[in-house]
Amino acid sequence: MRQVNLGMIGGGTVGSGVYHALRLNGQLLASRIGVPIRIRKIAVKAFDEPRPYSIPRSLMTLDWQRVVHDPEVDIVTELVGGTTIARTMVLTALGLGKPVITANKALLSAHGEELFAAAKKNRTNLYYEASVCGGIPIIKSLREGFVGNRITHLYGIVNGTCNYILTRMKLEGADFDAVLKDAQAQGYAEAEPSLDVDGYDAQHKIGILASLAHGFWVKPGRIYVEGIRAITRLDMQYAGQLGYTIKLLGIIKAQPDGTGGRAPRIQVSVYPTLVPNSHVLASVNHVFNAVFVRGDVVGDTLFYGRGAGKDATASAVLSDLADAALDLTAGTKNRVPAFVPHARGGTVVPIRDVVSQYFVRLNVVDRPGTLARISRVFGDAQIGISSVIQPEGRQGGSVPLIMMLHEAPNGAVTRALRRIQKLPVVRGRPVMIRVENFQ
Ligand code: NDP
Ligand code: HSE
Repeated sequence: MRQVNLGMIGGGTVGSGVYHALRLNGQLLASRIGVPIRIRKIAVKAFDEPRPYSIPRSLMTLDWQRVVHDPEVDIVTELVGGTTIARTMVLTALGLGKPVITANKALLSAHGEELFAAAKKNRTNLYYEASVCGGIPIIKSLREGFVGNRITHLYGIVNGTCNYILTRMKLEGADFDAVLKDAQAQGYAEAEPSLDVDGYDAQHKIGILASLAHGFWVKPGRIYVEGIRAITRLDMQYAGQLGYTIKLLGIIKAQPDGTGGRAPRIQVSVYPTLVPNSHVLASVNHVFNAVFVRGDVVGDTLFYGRGAGKDATASAVLSDLADAALDLTAGTKNRVPAFVPHARGGTVVPIRDVVSQYFVRLNVVDRPGTLARISRVFGDAQIGISSVIQPEGRQGGSVPLIMMLHEAPNGAVTRALRRIQKLPVVRGRPVMIRVENFQ
C-alpha cells in the first residue's frame, strides 16, 4: 500500500481542524481508500499562536517553501487565506506538479481561471470542496452528482457568519455587533469580517458555484452583492408579520432566453431576501448553510450542514484529500476534472433587469394623501402593490409604511424609490428587500 505524504500550509482554525480530524479518522480513511496519509509538515506564521487544536512543534515550520519543495510531499493544502501569498503558494505547488487542496474561496474567486489553467498545464489538479459551505459536499455534487443535469435554479445560504447573525437578531433580538464578535470567537468569521457581513464571502462562493454549474468563469465583479449591515430588527419584525424570514441568499437562475448549455444567460447575485416561512430555507438557522438546487432532470434537491468552523471544514478537506490521494495513486487525475469551461459566450444578467417581488419600508408623515402620492409613483412605473401595513400613528407624526410589491425589474423599482424618497411626505431612505417565492 503506497503512503501519501501531506504538506500543509496553514494550521489555524481549518488547518488545525484537519490535523485533528486526520488523527481521529486517518486510519478509517486509509482503510476506505486503501492509501495511508501522513502529515509530513505544517507551515504556520508563528509557533506560539493559539490554535483550536494544538499541533506538535516538531511538525511545524515557519517556512512554507520547505513544505512545497520537499520532494517527499505529494499533496499540498493551502489553508492560509487571502489572495496574495496564498496565490504564490498554490501556483508554486501546482508548478511542481503537486495536487493542491484549498479552502480559499476569495483566492478562487479572484484567480480561479489562472489557477485551474496552471493545474491543467502541470497535469495535476486543484481541489476546493472546503471553499463553499464548509462540510456540505456541494462541489462534488455539482461536479459529479448532477453532471447529467442543467442547473436551472440554485439558492444558497452560503455564509455561516451572516446566517448566525440574522438568526440571533431574529430569535433573541441580539445586537449586530455583539453577535459578530461571538461569530469571530467561534472561528466562523473571516479575518476581515467585512468579507462576511458585506456579502463578499457569499459573492465568492456563489461565483464558484455558478461557474461550476454553468461552465463559464463568473468573475466577482459580475455578481451583484448586498450584505446584511442595513437589516434592522424592525425589518425582521414586519417581514415576520407578513410570513417571511430574512436570509442572505446567493441566487443563481438560468434565464429562459439562454441557449441551453452553450450560451447560458444567468442571474448571479447575493442579497438579503425575504423567504416565505413555509420554505425550508427559512428554517436554516445559526451557522448552518443550505443549498437548494433544481436540475432539469433531477428536480429539487436540498443540502444542509455546517457551513463554517474547524471540524465541518476539515471534513471537506479530508474528502478532497481522499480524492487527491486516489487520483495520485490510481492515476485517475482526469476522472472528474475540477472545473471544465464548456459554455461559450455565457452572460450574467445585470441586476437592473432581474425581476423579483419586493418588501419596501418607508418612514412617512401620517397625513391624508400620503399613501395616494406614493401609490401614484409606483403606478406610473407599472409596479403593482400587493399589500400594505401601516401601524396606527399620530396624525402629522412619522409612521412606518410597509408595502409588498408585485414582480418588477430591479431597475424600475430602484428608480421609483428614488422618486418616492424625494416626496415631502417621506422621511429618510426607503428600505427595499427582495422577496423570493422559489417559482
Ligand atoms: P486562520 O487565520 O485561523 O489560519 C490561517 C493559518 O495560516 C494560520 O495557521 C497562520 O499561521 C497561517 N499563515 C498565515 N500566513 C502564513 C505564511 N505566510 N506562511 C505560513 N503560514 C501562514 O484562518 P482559517 O483557518 O479560518 O481559514 C483558512 C482558509 O480557510 C481561508 O481561506 C478561509 O477563507 C477558509 N475557510 C475558513 C473557514 C472557517 O470556518 N474558518 C471555513 C471555510 C473556509 P499562525 O497559526 O501562526 O497564525
Ligand atoms: N466566514 C465564512 C462563513 C467561513 O461564515 O461562512 C466559511 O466559509
